[in-house]
Amino acid sequence: MMCEQHRLDGRARPMLREAVVTSNEAVSADVWLATFESPEVASAIAPGQFVHLKIATGRDFILRRPLSVYSADEERIEIIYQLVGRGTRELSLAEPGDRMDIIGPLGTGWEIPEAPVRALLVAGGLGVAPLRMLAEALTRAGSTVALAYGAPTAERLTGVEFFSEVGCQVMSCTDDGSAGTQGLVTLASGDLLGEGEVDIVYTCGPEVMQRAVAAQARDAGVRCQVSLERLMACGIGACLSCVVPTTAGQRRACVDGPVFNAEDVIWGES
Ligand SMILES: Cc1cc2nc3c(=O)[nH]c(=O)nc-3n(C[C@H](O)[C@H](O)[C@H](O)COP(=O)(O)OP(=O)(O)OC[C@H]3O[C@@H](n4cnc5c(N)ncnc54)[C@H](O)[C@@H]3O)c2cc1C
Ligand code: FES
Repeated sequence: MMCEQHRLDGRARPMLREAVVTSNEAVSADVWLATFESPEVASAIAPGQFVHLKIATGRDFILRRPLSVYSADEERIEIIYQLVGRGTRELSLAEPGDRMDIIGPLGTGWEIPEAPVRALLVAGGLGVAPLRMLAEALTRAGSTVALAYGAPTAERLTGVEFFSEVGCQVMSCTDDGSAGTQGLVTLASGDLLGEGEVDIVYTCGPEVMQRAVAAQARDAGVRCQVSLERLMACGIGACLSCVVPTTAGQRRACVDGPVFNAEDVIWGES
């Protein structure tokens, strides 16, 4: 849980620090897992927050890259990332001992109820990244947690074992049927919500999926939090490159989010 001294008006107070790469390995064809040592940032992270990494110098890397914190302890931060373009490909070349600067913790993370709840986590692809620390925090607090996890293939169900290990009920869905049920993850989330045994839904993944999950939760009368990705330049609320239309006006995903209450989001207008 985030320390109070790193909060500002209920938001993260980010620090600019150096991070030392301690490992960086492929976990599947185009997904990598990296660990950085950066104690001050690591120990201040709350579930759902992200870091902004300066991957290298040079024109292609002027902008930092936002990446969710997959796990953190007092010393280290783990991120899991998909190779997308120049930045993430360059990141995959980093070796233990390399140093890069990091800003974090960033963003407003998940709301975690104080009393135990029945939580449904819905992940699409690498949207699983900000849900891992959430699952840990919820189960530690005595909540019952189910994870509905959708991906194209079994290989893309990244880190699924962890959720079972911390005691979550896991339902996998794959497009090709190579693991779990064949079909969209919303089949599983719809079934669970239909059973009426969910108090709160948390989701991250492609926006079209999050929108569908938010609609399922609304129809079932269940609260839902979504984690929205936007292109981010500054990451600290200054440039307005990351706005999300909400019922309360434009909000910045980097400081007001990335986690929003689904009912506040005006979908499809960004
Ligand atoms: C809050 C947040 C958390 C994220 N967490 C993860 C994660 O855990 N794992 C993961 O694989 N990806 C995550 N992403 C997406 C990740 O930031 C992009 O895939 C990455 O920036 C792509 O950089 P690139 O240089 O490889 O790609 P390029 O397409 O070459 O990037 C060009 C520029 O666009 C920006 N950009 C491109 N795609 C995105 C995007 N989806 N979101 C924000 N900026 C983007 C880059 O910062 C860069 O400035 C997250 C994005 C946000 C906003
Ligand atoms: S990235 Fe600059 S305001 Fe959000």
